[in-house]
Amino acid sequence: MHVLVIGGGGREHAVVAKLAASRHKLRLSCAPGNAGIAQVCPTVPISAGDIPAILDWTTEHGVDFVVVTPEDPLALGLVDRLAERGVPAFGPSAAATRIESSKAFAKEIMRRKGVPTARYGIFTDFPAARDYVMETCGPSGIVVKASGLALGKGALVCDHADEAVRALEELMLEKKFGAAGETVVIEERLAGEEASVFALSDGERFITLPPGQDHKRLLDGDAGPNTGGMGAYCPAPVVDARLMARIEREILAPTLAGLAEVGCPFKGVLYCGLMVCDGDPYVIEFNARFGDPETQAILPLLESDLFDLMYACHAGGVDRVETRWRSGACTCVVLASGGYPGGYEKGKVIMGLNEDFGPDVYVFHAGTRVEEGKVVTAGGRVLGVSAWGADLAESARRAYAAADRINFEGRHLRRDIAWRGLARLEAKR
Ligand code: AMP
Ligand code: GLY
Repeated sequence: MHVLVIGGGGREHAVVAKLAASRHKLRLSCAPGNAGIAQVCPTVPISAGDIPAILDWTTEHGVDFVVVTPEDPLALGLVDRLAERGVPAFGPSAAATRIESSKAFAKEIMRRKGVPTARYGIFTDFPAARDYVMETCGPSGIVVKASGLALGKGALVCDHADEAVRALEELMLEKKFGAAGETVVIEERLAGEEASVFALSDGERFITLPPGQDHKRLLDGDAGPNTGGMGAYCPAPVVDARLMARIEREILAPTLAGLAEVGCPFKGVLYCGLMVCDGDPYVIEFNARFGDPETQAILPLLESDLFDLMYACHAGGVDRVETRWRSGACTCVVLASGGYPGGYEKGKVIMGLNEDFGPDVYVFHAGTRVEEGKVVTAGGRVLGVSAWGADLAESARRAYAAADRINFEGRHLRRDIAWRGLARLEAKR
């Protein structure tokens, strides 16, 4: 079976690595991939958003199944176009992807189904949005979000009303994120601990993966600007078995039912970004795809066949696929280019990639490419170094031991990935 994976980040490297271990002996290709993925399977120089080129390549090369992980091709309807050609795929339709690509739509589904989320208002008119900020912004601040896709940068967490009005001006008047900011969601700022819970859904039934936690800020102690994610770990103790059962019952089941009720059953992985406030879960965002870098910490723990799960999301019966998870924990430390998430230089030679890191260490490539036979940096987030350990502390230690053997000019990493989980486990002792 020929399987084409769309995307070229650390998340896709983790997915490709798991699919390569499938008992189905898949023939894999990845578009566009990166230098790490190229060591696992052939890569195709087509960008993830080039729908016509992907469709042509799929037909020309007899692709049997397509795994679509990034949000752009999902929102552009790649899975729908493939279905029209009779090619099955892992990933939701464009209509179901609105749970990510339209925050206004996501809020409407949550409202209809009574799913706990921050209180909010939706606006297309600047003066009305400004009035709402002035009326509702309290001492804890407020959050202004572009409703559409904005490269993960569309959520502006504001301390004061003035800052929120400035954010509204940027989105609605200056159109910083283009059409994505024509509609804005303004919401209550929640205080608590974040967690990421992924559900694999076949449109009717779902299973959940062990909970992860991302570290979005650039610097230790969760300081500095927001990034795509500087590291992650799994399982995140903030979501214990009792809370997971509530998340399934109060959030995932009604949201997936709500999507089916409006005629767009969700098939694929539903990413639920949560804030846990005094033990209660609230939805901060939904995504229609795997998270990055959470996936690099979650998938190494999967013992069963990822392809079986992905295929069942398309064909049905995802809850009947045998799913086993390894005990222990996995931590992923991201190595980023100096300057990221602002401007950074590319083309720095990466040293140490061929070291023997021992068992259960995974060096997932994100922004890398091969230049004159050498692997060089080609993006903001360059690598994600993941390691399994018998417990969270051991996995973090092993991930850092490996990460410290890899270097490139300007390398930046956080030193405290998994700190909230470690603190929580320590407090329990
Ligand atoms: P999003 O793009 O919606 O994931 O938001 C990016 C980040 O902004 C989240 O990971 C949170 O740290 C923060 N955030 C978003 N919404 C809220 C909220 N209602 N309250 C507090 N923080 C939020
Ligand atoms: N880890 C955040 C995201 O994938 O959106």
